[in-house]
Amino acid sequence: MSRELVGRHEELSHVERFLEAAKEEPRVLLIHGEAGAGKTSVWEAGLASAQASGTRTLAARPVEAETGFGYAALGDMLRDDHEAVSVLPLRQRHALEVALRLAERTDSPDQASVGLAVHGVLTQLAEEKPLVVAVDDVQWLDAPSALVLGFAVRRLRSGPIALLVAWRTDDGAAPAPLELDRSGLADTMERLALPALSFGAVQRLLQQRLDIVPPRPVLRRLYELSAGNPFFALELGRGLRAGTLELEPGERLPVPLEGVVGTRLESLSASTRRMLAAAALIAQPTVALVEAVSGAHQAAFDEAERADVIDIREGRIRFSHPLLASASYAAATPSDRRELHTRAATTIQDTEERARHLAFAATGPMGPSPPSSSPRRAGPNPAVRRRRLPSSTSAPCGSPLTAPRATACGGPSRRRGARSRAATAGAPASSLTRS
Ligand SMILES: Nc1ncnc2c1ncn2[C@@H]1O[C@H](COP(=O)(O)OP(=O)(O)OP(=O)(O)O)[C@@H](O)[C@H]1O
Ligand SMILES: [Mg+2]
Repeated sequence: MSRELVGRHEELSHVERFLEAAKEEPRVLLIHGEAGAGKTSVWEAGLASAQASGTRTLAARPVEAETGFGYAALGDMLRDDHEAVSVLPLRQRHALEVALRLAERTDSPDQASVGLAVHGVLTQLAEEKPLVVAVDDVQWLDAPSALVLGFAVRRLRSGPIALLVAWRTDDGAAPAPLELDRSGLADTMERLALPALSFGAVQRLLQQRLDIVPPRPVLRRLYELSAGNPFFALELGRGLRAGTLELEPGERLPVPLEGVVGTRLESLSASTRRMLAAAALIAQPTVALVEAVSGAHQAAFDEAERADVIDIREGRIRFSHPLLASASYAAATPSDRRELHTRAATTIQDTEERARHLAFAATGPMGPSPPSSSPRRAGPNPAVRRRRLPSSTSAPCGSPLTAPRATACGGPSRRRGARSRAATAGAPASSLTRS
C-alpha cells in the first residue's frame, strides 16, 4: 500500500519530529492542503512510522459518503479496542457501546457520556505506551464523531498522545477543525502545509508510478497545468499514457482541470459507471451491496479495478482516491442518482442510512449538470484533445457526498479552490498556482 514518496523529505522529517515530541505531551499536527496535494500520503507515512516504532495507533479514514452516518469514524477507531472500553465506568461504557453499535440501542446515546468515555479510553491507552490518534479527511468526520472526539481531545492535558490530522482545505489559516485551536492543545498545535511538488519531483512521480518519461516541453506543460499537485499530475500523466490527452506547450486547456478525472470514467462501460455511482453513494460499499443496488455483474467490478478506480479487498470496495468517488457520483444523471438512492433505501439495513437515501430519492440531490449538458468542451484544436469531460468532480451541495458543514459545501474556501484550478482558455501558469 505505501509507496515511496517523492519530494516530501522536509514534510516527512516534520512529521517524525512531531511524533517524537508527542511522546512527552499531547500534541496536534494538522496536515493541510488542497484536494490531491498529497495529505493522505504524508499522513499514512506518519502512521506507518509510528506503528513501526511500536506506538499504538487508532485511525479513522472517513469518506464523503459517510458524513451522515452517525459515529462511523469513531467506530473505525475504537471498535477493536474492547479492552480499553471494558474498563470504563458502566454509564460511559454503555454510552460508547451503544454509539459504536456494540450494544442494544435503548435510547439515543448521551453524547457527553460518549465524549467522556472516549477521553477515558485515550488516557488509559496512553498510560500503557505512546498513542497516535490519526484522522484523515477530518472535514468528512460524521458530526457525532467530530463532536465527541473534539470533546475528548480538547481535554487532554498530559500523556504521550499525538493527534495526527489530515484536512482538505484551501485555507490552512482558517479555524482548525474540532475546535482544536480553542483548546488546551492550541499551544502545541502545528500546521503543516503541503506545498506544490517541484518539477523534478513530478518527473520522478510519473516515472515511478506510471513508468513514463514525457519529452521535456510536454512535461513542462503538464507541470504548469497540475501546478505541482500530485493527484492532477498523475491524472494528466494517465491521459498522456493512454493517448486520450495531448499537451502542447502554450496552447489552451479548454476545461476545468478537475474534468481530466472524468476521462478515465468515460472510457468505462455504462454498467461499470453505474456500479461506481452506486458504490460512491453507499457509506460502506461492499460488492454484494453494490451488486444489489446497481444490478452490476462481476465484469463491472473487474473493469473498474483494472482501470485503478477502485480496489476490492475481502468484498469491501474502496475508491483509489476520494476524488474518483466524487467524480463517479457527479457523472451519473440526476434521475439515475435518484433511482440508485431509492434502491439503496430498500436494500440497506442501517436505519439511519436508509433514511438518508430515502430523503435523497424523494427530493433529489442538487446535483451538478450531467456531462452531456456541460457547456465546456474541447473545442477545435484544443491543447487537450480528448473525449467529453464532466464539468465538475465535486459532489453537489446537499448530496450524500457533501458534509453538512459550511467548509464542505460551497463555503468560501471551496470556492477559492475551484477558482484556483480553473485551468481555462489561455490561463497563464501563474493563475494555476494556489492562492
Ligand atoms: N509525494 C508523493 N510521492 C508519490 N506519490 C504521491 C505523493 N503525493 C501524493 N502522491 C499520490 O498522489 C495521489 C494523491 O495523493 P493523496 O491521496 O495523498 O492526496 P490528498 O491530498 O490526500 O487528496 P484528497 O484531498 O483528495 O484527500 C495519490 O495517488 C498518491 O499516491
Ligand atoms: Mg486524502
